[in-house]
Amino acid sequence: MELKKHMKKLLSCTALLVSGALVLAGCSSLVLNIGESAAVPTTELSEKKSEDNAVSVSEAVETNEDGATLGHDDYKWWQKTIAYEIYVKSFKDSDGDGIGDLNGITSELDHLKNLGVGAIWLTPCYVSPQADNGYDIADYYNIDPAYGTMEDMDRLIDEAGKRDIRIVMDLVFNHTSSKNAWFTESRSGKDNDKSDWYIWADPKEDGSAPTNWRSIFGGSAWTYDEKRGQYYLHTFLPEQPDLNWANPEVRKALIDVADFWVKKGVGGFRLDAITYIKKPEKFLDGTPDANDGTVGIHAMTANTKGILDYLHEFKSAVQTGTDIFTVGEANGVSASDLPNWVGPDGVFDMVFEFGHMNISLSDEMNWCVTREWSLPEFKALFTASQENTIRTGGWYPMFLENHDQPRSINHFLPEGADRISGAKALATLVLTMRGTPFIMEGEELGFVNVNWPSIEDYNDISTRNHYKFAIDEGYSEAEAMKGVHDFARDSSRTPMQWDSSSNAGFTTGTPWLPVYDDYAKYNVASEIEDKDSVLNWYIALSGLRREHPELQTGDYTELFHEHEQIFAFTRESEDGKVTILINLSLEEASYDPSCVEGAKQLLGTNGESKKGTLAPLEAVVYEN
Ligand code: GLC
Repeated sequence: MELKKHMKKLLSCTALLVSGALVLAGCSSLVLNIGESAAVPTTELSEKKSEDNAVSVSEAVETNEDGATLGHDDYKWWQKTIAYEIYVKSFKDSDGDGIGDLNGITSELDHLKNLGVGAIWLTPCYVSPQADNGYDIADYYNIDPAYGTMEDMDRLIDEAGKRDIRIVMDLVFNHTSSKNAWFTESRSGKDNDKSDWYIWADPKEDGSAPTNWRSIFGGSAWTYDEKRGQYYLHTFLPEQPDLNWANPEVRKALIDVADFWVKKGVGGFRLDAITYIKKPEKFLDGTPDANDGTVGIHAMTANTKGILDYLHEFKSAVQTGTDIFTVGEANGVSASDLPNWVGPDGVFDMVFEFGHMNISLSDEMNWCVTREWSLPEFKALFTASQENTIRTGGWYPMFLENHDQPRSINHFLPEGADRISGAKALATLVLTMRGTPFIMEGEELGFVNVNWPSIEDYNDISTRNHYKFAIDEGYSEAEAMKGVHDFARDSSRTPMQWDSSSNAGFTTGTPWLPVYDDYAKYNVASEIEDKDSVLNWYIALSGLRREHPELQTGDYTELFHEHEQIFAFTRESEDGKVTILINLSLEEASYDPSCVEGAKQLLGTNGESKKGTLAPLEAVVYEN
């Protein structure tokens, strides 16, 4: 086994329970979601055995409202495009203060156009004290001065629109900043209009916090407020108090925020940390999972029954009559839950679920405890997600990176993988999988994790808290730093690298986070000139997606499921059929070439590929 140096063969005709789905890998069939009904009118499922009998996955026949099979034109704009995440603070600084800004983004729109991007997800750029780099919003209706003005935002929306690019806003609605006027009013006493807008609770008899819940960023999830004589709940930092969605006035206020941005002409929303908005009826202690007697809040509040009612209300109030899309950050939603979350009867158009992102962690809150995984297991997660998305008539957001995650080259490839070939192999997966690809800024250049020597070098508060948690749990400094090197959020937040000038052309000032020291080679200007660069591979794949509608909207069928080196699948629609083969290992890999017999190679990372064999990290796309 070679996908990770330390990986063992986990699946060999053994049963593995993945997110409620029973997967029989290494045998001749793949069975998904035992006992789940598929009573959704828009999609019919049919079982199909692949020719080599190595795997069987379902194929969906999707129909439109008139019962006719869906053609490419029936799909929405956001299903056929490519999305790109911009970490606003790190993309491009136009005024020399070392912080990226909206005018900087506007000045670089052509790079995104060139990549074939049709939607830009902006991380929060509203007024914020920046305790969590903008995910603590003090005013949903204004732009933080560090990022520009509302006029700059209007211009960005307008200039992007001229390039057929829509702006997608990040709605952080589980919580606000503690500096938000709503919270200021709420904490001012128990008898004001907003006293019930946040989650307040009395201390236990001994004066301690109402429960033993630990926040996602470490420490108690409750903070005492002297004035109210009560504790307030925060799933994340004390500076991020949770809103009380049980209060209809809160839900109305949030709908108003979303409406404001719809009227501005944005193309969609990403809903932050949305699985935490509904709290349980009673606040009860949980079984401790840490030395200090606390329990991670995720286990106590994620995906609480009744959450979907709030989200249905939000959807019908905000989306009706618009062409915007929504994508929810849905940690805690597994593939088998997807039918409730996406599709015409679900609450979002897409959700980011994290099965594949958390594959190497036994406990995502503890970066020191990693687990072994195999390629069949990785593939099974995607296939399960595809199945459960398709059966709802829903849609999948394909991603391997975001601003909370390590860089995919480090995350998913074996140690020692060649960086350029590895980035191209992963890019092939992202851009040919069924669903809307989401590219994280820098991913298209082949960015890798930063490896700074001390925890003091890291800016992100959650990274610092993860480190502290590890030390408190008794891990050594070296073990805690290994966790930081593998999973720190800073790795996806270093400044974008535009050229080989100082600070990579990101800023003329001092960047808020150091530019990674490989910028002389890995930057937009250099890579665009190099025909073999990662960037040009992205551009080629993006062009291929445009030319082959089946890559955008065709069905997905996995091949060679139990193959431990190759991720292979087909995409097929009335527009055509393509077969994608990606070797994610560092060894040559062979496969039964009958799946590409007579097929023409459309694109390959290593020139003309020899059918039946893939070089290490080689990726190839054939037209059948
Ligand atoms: C989401 C964001 C993350 C943020 C957290 C709290 O997970 O992606 O960056 O820190 O929510 O808002």
